[in-house]
Parts: sequence; structure tokens; C-alpha cells
Amino acid sequence: MDSAEFDSFASEYDQLLRQAVSATGEGPEFFHEYKVRELSQMAGKRHLQPERILDFGSGVGNSTPYFRRYFPSAQLTSADVSARSLEVAQERFPGAAAGLQIQGNRLPAADDSFDLAFSACVFHHIDHAEHVHWLRELFRVTRPGGMLGIFEHNPLNPLTVNAVHHCPFDANAHLIRSKQLVERYRNSGWSDPKVRYHLFFPRMLSGLRALEPYLAGIPLGGQYSVTAIKPG
Ligand SMILES: C[S@@+](CC[C@H](N)C(=O)[O-])C[C@H]1O[C@@H](n2cnc3c(N)ncnc32)[C@H](O)[C@@H]1O
Repeated sequence: MDSAEFDSFASEYDQLLRQAVSATGEGPEFFHEYKVRELSQMAGKRHLQPERILDFGSGVGNSTPYFRRYFPSAQLTSADVSARSLEVAQERFPGAAAGLQIQGNRLPAADDSFDLAFSACVFHHIDHAEHVHWLRELFRVTRPGGMLGIFEHNPLNPLTVNAVHHCPFDANAHLIRSKQLVERYRNSGWSDPKVRYHLFFPRMLSGLRALEPYLAGIPLGGQYSVTAIKPG
């Protein structure tokens, strides 16, 4: 992608997202929080207590307060190609995360630097031909035994596809099916990938959300996650 693409959306990102998700009855915070909460549960199931976390494609820092809530003792590093988004994140949450600007095709971090790498709604903004490259970079900077968790929009969910279609910052998005992403994880060295589907019910049916853990294998949720471990 053009590294400046999200520079132009940084100031109004949450407002545009609020419009795009309004049909669900939820605000953007609901979507930011659920991912980090699920991530903490999935890390717990894999017996991980991460101390160093990377948020790859962190944007304007929307996940930052939830990392503070669900991983209170971890050090957070926020990495993005958009310098303006990193600046806005720093203004919103001063000192809450170390910012890393990505330039070129390498993550500016040493091998094995993180226990947990996370990415929310980023890979559909990256050229599909570059997915394996960035998954390998994430593999390189994650320590052996560490975990990668990626959340993506589900192209099989018509409401998600409609929201993406109407969202200005998704104009160049190319959604990824979970099976494709899993294959790319495997081609990048990641082990034991697990897919879970999320976001089945809008706010008006929120009483049914207690059922979502039982539906996680049904490929119709609004988003999905893939988690996997770096072997060793
Ligand atoms: C839709 S936003 C999501 C931001 C954030 N993860 C969130 O959930 O609010 C996508 C972000 O991915 C970033 N991005 C796109 N390509 C990237 C790449 N190759 N490396 C890192 N970040 C990238 C963009 O600059 C943008 O901030």
C-alpha cells in the first residue's frame, strides 16, 4: 500500500469507522475491545503470559487502552507505516506504547523481540503478494514459543462486505478468506494455526452473544481471528 494512505485518515479515523459500523448498533470501542479481550483469552489457552507485545499496523492506537486493561504488565510496541497515525496515537495515549515507524520492507525490531504479535484489520490493506513476507517478518521478531494473532474482516459475511464497501478508508481493501490466511501462516513457518469466527449478533440481539464461543467454528461471523505459535 501507499505508506501515506492512512496519514490522510488519521484525524478522522474513528469518526469514519463509527459511521461504517453504525448498523450494528455498536460504536468503534466495542470492536476495538473485543479483539484484545479475545486475544488475551487465546493467549491464556496457549499458556502464554506475554511481557512484550507488538501491535502491527496499530493505526491511531485504538487497541492501546485495551492492551493496558487485558495485559496490564506488558510493554506495548505500536508499529505502522503511517507516521501521522503514530503521532495521533501518541497524542491520544501519551507514553502508553513505544512507536515504531515501518519504512521499507523490514520491521525495525530485532529477532525474537516479542512474546505476542497482534494485528487488527491490517492485512486487507497489504498487497496479497506481500502477505507471506510480512508474516515472515512477524515470525522473525516473535520469540520461539510466542504467538501471533491476526483479526480480519470475514468476506463470507454480507454485512461486513457492505460495511467495507461504504467505508472511505477501505476503498483499496482486498479482503482475505480465513483459509487463505491460514495457508499463508503455514508458508511463513507458523505452527498450529487456529481459526475462530467472531461478531455474530448486533447490539439489538446482544443477549445472544453468550452463545458466540459455541459458534466460533461457523464461518459466518463478521470477523475472524487466526492465532498460531512460533515453534521452538
Ligand atoms: C484499518 S487500519 C487499522 C488500524 C488499527 N489496527 C485498528 O484496529 O484501529 C489499517 C492500518 O494498517 C496500516 N498498514 C498498512 N500496511 C501496513 C504495513 N505493511 N505495515 C504496517 N502497517 C500497515 C495502515 O497505515 C493503517 O494504520
